[in-house]
Amino acid sequence: MIKIAPSALACDFARLGEEVREVEKAGADYIHLDVMDGMFVPNMSFGNPVIASLRPATDIKFDVHLMIEEPIRYIEEFKKAGADIITVHYEACSDLDATLDKIHECGALCGLSIKPKTPAEKIFPYLEKCDWVLIMSVEPGFGGQSLIPYTLDKINEIKKEAEKQGLNILVEVDGGINAKNIGEVAAKGADIVVAGSAVFGAKDRKAAIADLKNIRVNG
Ligand code: DX5
Ligand code: ZN
Repeated sequence: MIKIAPSALACDFARLGEEVREVEKAGADYIHLDVMDGMFVPNMSFGNPVIASLRPATDIKFDVHLMIEEPIRYIEEFKKAGADIITVHYEACSDLDATLDKIHECGALCGLSIKPKTPAEKIFPYLEKCDWVLIMSVEPGFGGQSLIPYTLDKINEIKKEAEKQGLNILVEVDGGINAKNIGEVAAKGADIVVAGSAVFGAKDRKAAIADLKNIRVNG
């Protein structure tokens, strides 16, 4: 079954711990933590100190999405703060090999993300260093946008290439996913979907997660 990673970007930051515990109890598989630096994306969110404070509040796995320039500078800090998966952007790293190596060295799972306009082939040479690929289905920077349909073709392109290279890579899709379009995302082969507004924007988070998991193909 597809796994759900609610994005904390859409929660009430004054109640961060409670919000995360609530979705953990409601059946979320990961919590997706969007870190923004106001440089790589035109917005800011939170950083490693907030993640470190959140760590003792919950057992859920931390899926940390770094939308920051040259993330290599902060990999160790995010691991120390409690990240389980650390995802960096292809477009943000001047030495991607060294950045991915650093994620492995510190013992986190290694994720690599591409923006909507970046072709999947660009990351084929790096797949052997990845546990996880994050396909952006909106321009990174803001929650609540509409999914860009052409980005979904990249799910299959990554899966096929991983198989060709004999690799087992999880594919996560991020941006604009809701109960109406998750069927299509799942049918294209996604393993994990991020859902910010669709979960934290709902009054009943348990019902929202159940709705997302009750996948209707083409529906
Ligand atoms: C966008 C972030 C997303 C965002 C998703 O830059 O990477 O994770 O929070 O939010 P929704 O699900 O509302 O599009
Ligand atoms: Zn994200």
